Amino acid sequence: MPNIAIIGSQWGDEGKGKIVDWLSEKADVIVRFQGGHNAGHTLVVNNITYKLKLLPSGIIRKNKISIIGNGVVIDPWALLEEIKQLEKLGIKITNKNLFIAENATLILPPHKELDAIREDSKNTDKIGTTRRGIGPAYEDKVGRRAIRLMDLANKKNLSKKINMMLFHHDSIRKGLKKNKINKKKLIKDLVKISSKILKYSKPVWKKLEEFKKKKKKILFEGAQGILLDIDHGTYPFVTSSNTVVGSALSGTGCGPKTINYILGIVKAYTTRVGEGPFPTELKNELGNRIGKRGNEFGTVTNRKRRCGWFDAVLVKQSCIISGINGIALTKIDVLDHFKDIYVCVGYKLNGKKINYFPSSLNDQFKVKPIYKRFKGWLKNTKGIKKWNDLPTNAKKYINFIKSYCNVKISSVSTSPKREDTILLQNPFKG
Ligand code: GDP
Ligand code: IMO
Ligand code: MG
Repeated sequence: MPNIAIIGSQWGDEGKGKIVDWLSEKADVIVRFQGGHNAGHTLVVNNITYKLKLLPSGIIRKNKISIIGNGVVIDPWALLEEIKQLEKLGIKITNKNLFIAENATLILPPHKELDAIREDSKNTDKIGTTRRGIGPAYEDKVGRRAIRLMDLANKKNLSKKINMMLFHHDSIRKGLKKNKINKKKLIKDLVKISSKILKYSKPVWKKLEEFKKKKKKILFEGAQGILLDIDHGTYPFVTSSNTVVGSALSGTGCGPKTINYILGIVKAYTTRVGEGPFPTELKNELGNRIGKRGNEFGTVTNRKRRCGWFDAVLVKQSCIISGINGIALTKIDVLDHFKDIYVCVGYKLNGKKINYFPSSLNDQFKVKPIYKRFKGWLKNTKGIKKWNDLPTNAKKYINFIKSYCNVKISSVSTSPKREDTILLQNPFKG
């Protein structure tokens, strides 16, 4: 039985949560490997809506192991709050069903503050971040001054490590004319919660090795999307982690052969939250209609998502960059009532046709989409569970995406509900 990695293949919010939850029925272990609580994954099960940020989407099923890998940046207070909220909904979370990598790095209040300062500054380009401290936390990780989960276990060492981190932060803050960080308070606050979070701490790479030996089925749950990848995305309008499949390995401590199937989650149109280029964006009534029908409001920040037509060039590029084996196409029902539906199949740049998205930000803003028009199906697809029940024009649209991207369609999702999903090719069967 293969292990699967689930990767957002646009600008995030493709419906990863729904698909991870749906597939996790057949999995034993569900693992988050990058990002933090900038992610917002929505699941609708038995008419209850769960909004997960840091916890893997398998957490709501019984008898599954959920893992947060070392590649994730963890705000310990946000994590404890999320656990509390889920417990209120009757979900049991213990150190038997949740493991957190002992070497995962933490998001602390100075990170969050710095994120907000930069976003509000008139001197820097606004990225439109989630203001959760993600960027500054990853900077500290790469700068070798981050606090790791395991550091909470040793108060003496913690104090030394916080000194290193604050040496950096206080120098930045001095330049910004901000107060020094109150070190005593920071340590006191961390010590106060340390036992609540340390109980989940484990050498995750070792646990995963044990699960692999026992032939347990592992689902790797990506956050964000390939176009928000720090290397391959629309830099600098990206998040601060690699969102491509390689992160599932480095962010957990597994070798490449661990993953047998890479499932790209793709929305039937395009959305983006925050700033940055978006060639097929519809800044008009059509865009508003898509947003309304798709309920396109951010799970984390409640911001209105920008909406536009499906960009096949971008999705094809994502499929290549992350080695996608199959596409889970979501939200086809949102397009039910459009007379004409458009798909971007190329761009015009400086009068020339190109068939890829260039890396230069200037060019990314400049490209003009070349569209192919599809006749809408003007019929309800919401809740359809069988391919044959889809209207012919919807099938044509989906088949075009398959042939343009040269990737099989593994499933089609027709509503937010777990069960409203058409299975075409089971990723667990490869
Ligand atoms: P994620 O970040 O990729 O997990 O996606 P989000 O949860 O942020 O956003 C996807 C939204 O679309 C959520 O509100 C889901 O409940 C909803 N959703 C998922 N699949 C479908 C679908 O097939 N149809 C419709 N109408 N909504 C869906
Ligand atoms: P899920 O997992 C959509 C976007 C932010 C911003 C940029 C950088 O739900 O798909 P950050 O706070 O990460 O430094 O913000 O990335 N962003 C997302 N957009 N879905 C997400 O996650 C996102 N996580 C971050 O809006 O443009
Ligand atoms: Mg989301």
